[in-house]
Amino acid sequence: MSEHAEPQPVPPSSVVLVSGGSRGLGLAIVADLLDRGVRVAAFARTVTPELDKLAAEHPDRLHAGPVDVTDLAAAQAFVRDAEVRLGPIDGLVNNAAIGQDSLHVHTATGDIARIIETNLTAPLQLTRLLVRRMLGQGRRGRIVNITSICAQRGFPGLVAYSATKGGMDAATRSLARELGGRMLVNAVAPGFFASEMSAVLGRTQLDQIVRRTPSGHLTEPAEVVPVVRMLLREQTNINGQVIVVDGAASV
Ligand SMILES: NC(=O)c1ccc[n+]([C@@H]2O[C@H](COP(=O)([O-])OP(=O)(O)OC[C@H]3O[C@@H](n4cnc5c(N)ncnc54)[C@H](OP(=O)(O)O)[C@@H]3O)[C@@H](O)[C@H]2O)c1
Repeated sequence: MSEHAEPQPVPPSSVVLVSGGSRGLGLAIVADLLDRGVRVAAFARTVTPELDKLAAEHPDRLHAGPVDVTDLAAAQAFVRDAEVRLGPIDGLVNNAAIGQDSLHVHTATGDIARIIETNLTAPLQLTRLLVRRMLGQGRRGRIVNITSICAQRGFPGLVAYSATKGGMDAATRSLARELGGRMLVNAVAPGFFASEMSAVLGRTQLDQIVRRTPSGHLTEPAEVVPVVRMLLREQTNINGQVIVVDGAASV
């Protein structure tokens, strides 16, 4: 018999922070977690009527507010308020991001900087903030980064965006190792799905993606949500992975 105590599995998250939870995939994740009895803190720059409605339906389990993810002080204040209301956060979904629709040669320096700040720097800082709080209070937790198939396959018009998503995939692996099993850190990389972000894609581009997809349809947020939930809630040994949900479009 080993003298070492068996490492304890990371428990399911019961209070989850979702960035960009106001619409699209983020809102679908918030609604799903609430349905499962999870307490949720969700922010975006603008709180939508849909998120407000969920907050009215779950006054004790949803803390929602307006925060720009690039404003670390505002994020910090939101996390403190959320924890007072909901209890200690033990799950994070880095979902907030902005898209891109410009060839690299035509993308202004300021736009490249904004994409990197929103999609890479800010989630790394939010992650550091929450990991420090969790470890400081002796808690364990789970982190899910929403990245993209763009990190693995090339798409014109998405150069800076793809770079940020590839950066988050790489950070996922290194953080999983760095945290030594005290937290589970994974990424979910969806294929294209209909949302405000992908509305910039033309019909021809969308048709092309569908033609390349063996399952014959674009990914739906409802097909991504169960994977996020599984990583937050199920007892698995999945750690440091990027799980692609794209109907094999990229295979
Ligand atoms: N749609 C796709 O085809 C696709 C494919 C693969 C991966 N993804 C990824 O999936 C995730 C969700 O995308 P989506 O399509 O659902 O996008 P979306 O509909 O545009 O929603 C993005 C969310 O992020 C928030 N957000 C953006 N910038 C923010 C900021 N600075 N501070 C705080 N919140 C911010 C938005 O609210 P505000 O604008 O009010 O702040 C919104 O709640 C993203 O990480 C995206 O990269 C999307």
